[in-house]
Amino acid sequence: MAVSRTPFIAGNWKMNLDHLQAIAFVQKLAWSLADAKHDFADAEVAVFPPFTDIRSVQTLVSADDLPIAYGGQDLSQHDSGAYTGEVSGAFLAKLDCRYVIIGHSERRTLHGESDADVNAKVKAAHRHGLIPVLCVGETADDLEQHGASAVPVAQLRAALDGVDAGKGLVVAYEPVWAIGSGKAATPEQAQQVAAALRAVLGEIAGDEVAASTRILYGGSVKAANIASFLREPDVDGALVGGASLDLDEFSSIVRFKKHVGA
Ligand code: PGA
Repeated sequence: MAVSRTPFIAGNWKMNLDHLQAIAFVQKLAWSLADAKHDFADAEVAVFPPFTDIRSVQTLVSADDLPIAYGGQDLSQHDSGAYTGEVSGAFLAKLDCRYVIIGHSERRTLHGESDADVNAKVKAAHRHGLIPVLCVGETADDLEQHGASAVPVAQLRAALDGVDAGKGLVVAYEPVWAIGSGKAATPEQAQQVAAALRAVLGEIAGDEVAASTRILYGGSVKAANIASFLREPDVDGALVGGASLDLDEFSSIVRFKKHVGA
């Protein structure tokens, strides 16, 4: 069966751009893609701004009917209550977020998020109708000790424990050693792990879910290397950090099909 998965280019802004800068960026991104006659069937686009920007992005996107999706960079595993500093999935859903990043390696390492926390957050996202962009990936040490696939596969299994992946899921394979390092994985490495992740999805959620779930690569993606990743059969897009803050670069990544004639 030929499967078609719309490529997905997601910009993870991390802790960059305030709400005024966010409005300017999203507006210019929309203009740039419209000018270039970007076909959103070639690549869906989403941005992940800081929480304080989301209301502004929502207002702009809905007022101008922009074809750009957005979401949070994290959410609480709880729905409401005495959790100072946390943001409920209910609030993100109310702001028309479609997606939420969960388990980014910076959350796992800097905020001590465990596989159990990530699992609880995936369930919280589904409770509120949000699609998790679930990040998995191995450190340089893991790579040396266990090879490329073992840790991402174990993280995926743990994150999906008791989860109905058919409710919506994007998986982002982000080798920790490639994030912000300027040293991306090779397309072959990304394909190898993406294929292993898809096989596990098939085992857990069935062939149909495995075939329709988009698996992204993330880690030092730029306009110059995006096309090589998207040529791989199991890589369906990218989670872009640093390069998502540069308008021309990000717009060019989104238009990967045009500028390489792929
Ligand atoms: P990078 O970050 O593109 O700057 O390597 C990717 C990410 O952390 O999602």
